[in-house]
Amino acid sequence: MRYADISGWGKCLPPAILSNNDLSSLLDTNDEWITSRTGMKERRISHVPVSSLATVAAARALACAGKQALDVELIIFGSTTFDEMCPNASSNVQKQLGATNAACMDVNTACTSGMYALSVATAMIKSGVVNNAIVIGAEVISTVMDWNNRNVAVLFGDGAGAFYLQAEEQESGVIAESLGCYGESREILAVNGWGLKNASNGLLHSDIHWAFEGQEIFKKAVSGMDQACQKVLAKSGVDAADISLVVPHQANLRIIDTLTKRLKLDRDKVFINIQRYGNMSAATAPVALVEAIEEGRVSPGKLVLMPAFGGGLTWSAHLLRWGERTHSLGESEMQLPPCDKTALELITPD
Ligand code: ACO
Repeated sequence: MRYADISGWGKCLPPAILSNNDLSSLLDTNDEWITSRTGMKERRISHVPVSSLATVAAARALACAGKQALDVELIIFGSTTFDEMCPNASSNVQKQLGATNAACMDVNTACTSGMYALSVATAMIKSGVVNNAIVIGAEVISTVMDWNNRNVAVLFGDGAGAFYLQAEEQESGVIAESLGCYGESREILAVNGWGLKNASNGLLHSDIHWAFEGQEIFKKAVSGMDQACQKVLAKSGVDAADISLVVPHQANLRIIDTLTKRLKLDRDKVFINIQRYGNMSAATAPVALVEAIEEGRVSPGKLVLMPAFGGGLTWSAHLLRWGERTHSLGESEMQLPPCDKTALELITPD
């Protein structure tokens, strides 16, 4: 049996920090409301395009696995905020890394993009199409944010996480997953004015307007991730008590708490970093897993459950068996260019 072991991991967080207090200088909101309703304290704002964040995260994952760019056979880039639609974004990562032997594919399922990308790469390795892959979840949601809308502006941030996967004989990597979508409710989370929907009217660039029914999304997020987790546990024959760590999508601390209670999971086993980054959409779950490994929360041979949810409304859950290694084999020298603006300056037009 062939598996797709996660043998490298890396993240890239842009340096500019946007705090709750910064947001309250722009909008009718405050730290108390944001913290108590979401668990978020600050988030990052990128000064570079998403492909730059993605490339640095990918270079770090590659170095962590002790591999060279020319070894890479496939790059799958999950995001909603690609720099351009044609050529695709993964080809830009290939170029910047010098990974000239890699096939390149983009995936967009909103916040679950990094996790759907993980499924595609795992399946392609398991079936023998490729022997390894870089999987990226990266987002610069700040570029499409409606900064006048307090309902959404406080919730999101930018970042990137990446993994290097390689074929392995021993059981490791994704051992079961469940993917789905509440397409009938897709309009309750929509970024209107972004995309080619208005092209027939000659309106290629209109104002961005978020449709965001927070409470409905909240309910769907809980039910979507709940059913995905139940399916994964049933499929794998694993008992919830045997999960050693849960690394969920970080959209709202109250969503995570509700899900944890529904699944009767031990709260101490749930990894949380929402206070630092908010919801980074496609980057959220990958960055959370990278930080869980860095903080020593992931142990060799143990089971990790990763539920996620996003626009679409897409949902997923992945059950991972961690491999033998939790330390990094090397570090990349690749860095982002310096940022000479504050987060508030980055989001405020000149
Ligand atoms: N600051 C202060 N007050 C606010 C803010 C804010 N930033 N935002 C809303 N309010 C107000 C509302 O106007 C409302 O006031 P009113 O009672 O006078 O009308 C009040 O706070 C309560 O608003 P609710 O919408 O009821 O607040 P709720 O407790 O539901 O929290 C939230 C809102 C945080 C958005 C929550 O519903 C949520 O997290 N939803 C899910 C988000 C999610 O899952 N996203 C993931 C997918 S995103 C993706 O894929 C791209």
